[in-house]
Formats: sequence, structure tokens, C-alpha cells
Amino acid sequence: MSINLRKIYVAIITLFSASATALSCPDYTTYSQSPQGNPSAGPLRLPFMRPAPECRTFNSSVVENVIGDMKARMKDPDLARLFENTFPNTLDTTIKYFDPEKNLAFIITGDITAQWLRDTANQLAVYKPLLSYDRNLQALFKAVINNEARYVSQFPYCGSFQPPFESGLSPSHNDWADGVTVNPPVNNEVVFECKYEIDSLCGFIKLSRGYFEATGDSSIINNNCTRRNAIDQIFRVIWEQSQGSFDEKFNFISYYNWTGGIGALSPAVDNGGNGEPKAYTGLVGTHHRPSDDLSVFAFLTPANAMLSVELTHLADMLDKVGQLKNVSMLARQYSSTISKAIWDTTVVNNIFAYETNGFGGRYVMDDANVPSLLSLPYLEFLSRTDPAYVATRNLLLSRGNPYFAAGKTFTGIGGPHVNAWHPWPMSQISAIFGTDDDVEITNSLYLLANNTANLGLIHESQSIYDYNDYTRPWFAWANSYFAEMILDLAQRKPHIIFSDDTAYIPGSGV
Ligand SMILES: *[C@@H]1O[C@H](CO)[C@@H](O)[C@H](O)[C@H]1NC(C)=O
Ligand SMILES: *[C@@H]1O[C@H](CO)[C@@H](O)[C@H](O)[C@H]1NC(C)=O
Ligand SMILES: *[C@@H]1O[C@H](CO)[C@@H](O)[C@H](O)[C@H]1NC(C)=O
Ligand SMILES: *[C@@H]1O[C@H](CO)[C@@H](O)[C@H](O)[C@H]1NC(C)=O
Ligand SMILES: *[C@@H]1O[C@H](CO)[C@@H](O)[C@H](O)[C@H]1NC(C)=O
Repeated sequence: MSINLRKIYVAIITLFSASATALSCPDYTTYSQSPQGNPSAGPLRLPFMRPAPECRTFNSSVVENVIGDMKARMKDPDLARLFENTFPNTLDTTIKYFDPEKNLAFIITGDITAQWLRDTANQLAVYKPLLSYDRNLQALFKAVINNEARYVSQFPYCGSFQPPFESGLSPSHNDWADGVTVNPPVNNEVVFECKYEIDSLCGFIKLSRGYFEATGDSSIINNNCTRRNAIDQIFRVIWEQSQGSFDEKFNFISYYNWTGGIGALSPAVDNGGNGEPKAYTGLVGTHHRPSDDLSVFAFLTPANAMLSVELTHLADMLDKVGQLKNVSMLARQYSSTISKAIWDTTVVNNIFAYETNGFGGRYVMDDANVPSLLSLPYLEFLSRTDPAYVATRNLLLSRGNPYFAAGKTFTGIGGPHVNAWHPWPMSQISAIFGTDDDVEITNSLYLLANNTANLGLIHESQSIYDYNDYTRPWFAWANSYFAEMILDLAQRKPHIIFSDDTAYIPGSGV
């Protein structure tokens, strides 16, 4: 073949294979925006939205069995279809890279090609009960944890990352980080976005200890400097961010700041990129919220609640394997200091503030992203019947919460991330986790089912006026969270979703 002919030949082959891939495996962001047929038998006629088998990014027969079991038992075909679409969504669509030999995996959030520590922990939490039945799924969790240990040990202040270099995937460009200067500085080949949010580190702990609880495999702590270094870095951040802002000479002590040129940031961050000052209370500060929006006050109550819970789990794990006694003692100490500070400094008349600053400043509101105040029982910080939770919940689901909105078609809690009249379906899922009231649960379930723009997937936000007005067609965490809630009801409240009252334990049929 002459050079020219070969070039043409290669070009034709490239064109052909590119279009073949495009035809058989459409981009899921596009795919998820139109109904893909085979509507469910209920009044909502929700479409089947899983990608074709050859386009799925991970296969698990155990997951398929759970879908089969649940479909056979769920009485409402619309809710069953939502479960069928949402439960496998993370495995179907987001495993961009997985190499069990190298013990590395890269999992994207959905329509953005980056791995968030918070999102992965929540995307994967729903599969935890299946780990002991599926070795490949177990290897996937382990590979995600290993990759994240490396991220955390290098950049503990960051929450969202690029593919590991071993994957051969190229880093993507984050328009939102253009012109932003972060201190300590980051490497954009590794970091996608460096907003400091303490719950990102909680997500990493939750994923790790959840894996250990389900498998008993302690190799995630054993003999790996990277992982031990990650743990040390987490405690460094906890210590640094629990300090007050000013030293005795009124110098602003800054361990992390987020600045940029004029016009680069929206909004610009006051006090040299540090945000509002804080005074020591025992709580750990955060810079941005779980929604990636800037915090008003640094001490985010629900993130501290999650931290307190996860530090106890971390200590339990270390004690069980008899390792790192110093870390386990430190973790228990922080956990109780934080829990005490939450009760002492954020609650007034049984109402939790969402954020405080240690100077007496309190912001009573809730933002939909988990950790949120509404999700405190889901986070295992307190029980659903705790009087302070019940009182706070009543306020949050009313006009007393500036980010609560109710309209003709949808109701819930949103946040400034989208706007006040686009609440997030995630808030209704947290509401279900936080109550034992059948009527409330059923109402929230149908608010969710009615508001998928008839696409059969859970979206980021949803207009209170219009079924079809939503954001983020492909948001894997929201899908996993919905499925996790359905599996929780299958055990806690079977009669709501099944025709009888027999609990269903995922994996039990294996
Ligand atoms: C999943 O299984 C299908 C066959 O049902 C196959 O075509 C596809 O390549 C598998 N995906 C992975 C990631 O192994
Ligand atoms: C920003 O943080 C760095 C530490 O990473 C610190 O040296 C610097 O003084 C801080 N800048 C401001 C304006 O606070
Ligand atoms: C620890 O993990 C890193 C990857 O994060 C790997 O390169 C290294 O080989 C591991 N070390 C041990 C002793 O397993
Ligand atoms: C715990 O002790 C080990 C050495 O035994 C040390 O490397 C590590 O930094 C300590 N961790 C903390 C958080 O103090
Ligand atoms: C869901 O939609 C159905 C049919 O339009 C309606 O009857 C029901 O009241 C709606 N439920 C909620 C909670 O909005």
C-alpha cells in the first residue's frame, strides 16, 4: 500500500469505527434526555433507560438478580421501572476505567467527566450489601478506594479529580476553575476542582469503612504508605480547619484559600479567598458546601455530623484490625468533641442551624445536597424521632426555610446552586429516610415519580411549576440515592412498595 492509500485507508477505518461506536453506544447525556421506549404499565408510562448491554460499563449478575427480585415484588410498575433504571445506573454508565491488576478505578459523576470523592461514596453505597456475593464488585470498590487514597494523600483539600495517569484517559478541562488560584497549589493533571469541603473526606472514610464492614478485607489499611498518608492528611485538615481565623495579633491564619482575578470568580471570596471569619468551637470548618456553592459561615452542621459519625466508624475499623491505635484514639476524641460542639453551639430551641461561625452567627436553612440537616438520620447522627430532628424537619419543610419551595407540580428543598424554585428530588429522598410516617413517605415517593420529566431517572433539580423543567439529565448519585431509599423501604416498610409485608434483603436470593 502506498503511503497515501494507507492514509486514506486508516482515515476510512477511523471514520467507520467512530461512527459505529457512536451509533451503538450513544453518549448517555444525550441518551438520557429522551424516552428510550418500552414504557412501564403504570399511569406514568416511564421508559426503560438502561443503555444497551454492550454499552454498559460494568456487569454484575448479582445486581441483575436484585432488579429481578424487586420487579417481581413491587406493586406499582412505575416505581418498579424507576428502581430498574436507577439502581444499576452507576455501574451501567459511570465506570470509565477499572483495572483490578493495577488496583485502580475511575468513576465519573455522570454528565461531568470527573471523580468527586463525595459522589463516588454515594454512588457506590447502594451496592454495599452485595459486596460479599460479587468478587468483581468487591475488586471495583477496592480499586476506587486505592485511587482515592492517592488523591487524598496528595491533595486533601480537593474534592474532584482527574483520571489516574495509568488509565491513559486524558484530563478534562474545567471551565469553572479558569482563573481560580487555590492555596495550597494544585496540579490540574490530577485535580479537576479544588473546593475544600470536609464532607468529601467523610465520603472517602465512609466508602473505605463500608467496604471493610461488608468484606472484612483489611488490605485497604494494611501495608500501604499511600493510604496511611491519606489518613494523616485527613487529620491535618481536621486540625487546621477547626482553628479560629485570627491569631492573638489579629493576623488571619490561612491554611487554604481560594482566590482569582476580577471576573474569574462568581462570587469573589472575601478576606483574601478565606471567606467569613470563624472562632473556635470544636467544629471543623468548610469552605464550600456539598453543592459546591460557597459557604456563608464555615461550620456546616450536617457535614460535622457526618464527620463525627464517620470518625467513630474509622476508629471501630482500626480497633477491629488492631492497627494504628494512635489514629483510632484521635478519631474517637475528635468525634466526641465535634458531636458535643454540634449540640452545644448549633441548636437553639430544638432547631439546628445549617451553618454557624463561632461568634454567635447562625444561618437557619437547609440545602438539598447530602449531608443536609434533613438527612441527619440517614447519616446516622441521630434517630428519626429525636425531638430536635423532628422540630428542625418541620421547620425545614416549611416557609421557615428560605430554600423550601412548593408549587403546582413539585415541592422540596433546593439551594442557591440552581435557584429557590427548583428544589432537588434528593431532598424528598432524604425526607423519606427521615420519617416513619407512611403517608409522608408515600407522598414523597409520588412527588419523585411524578417529576422525572417522564424520563424515568432522578434529576438534580426540578421546577415546582413544570414537570418538564429540570437540570442534569445524568446525575448518577441521585439515581443511586433513590435506589438506596427503595431498598431501605423494602426492609423497613415493605407494605408501602410490595403487595405484602415481607421484608426483602438484597443479596438474600443469591
Ligand atoms: C457487559 O456485558 C455485555 C454482554 O451482555 C458485553 O457486551 C459488555 O462488553 C459487558 N461490559 C463490560 C464492561 O464488561
Ligand atoms: C493562602 O494560603 C496560603 C497557604 O496555602 C498562605 O500562605 C497565604 O498566606 C494565604 N493567603 C491569604 C491571603 O490568606
Ligand atoms: C500502595 O498503593 C499505590 C497506589 O495507590 C501502589 O502504587 C503501591 O504499590 C501500593 N503499595 C503497596 C505496598 O501495596
Ligand atoms: C500514628 O502513628 C504512626 C507511626 O506509628 C505515624 O506514622 C502516624 O503519623 C500517626 N498518625 C497520626 C494521625 O498521629
Ligand atoms: C402524582 O400524579 C398523579 C397523577 O397525575 C396524581 O394523582 C398524584 O396526586 C400525584 N402525586 C403527588 C404526590 O404529586
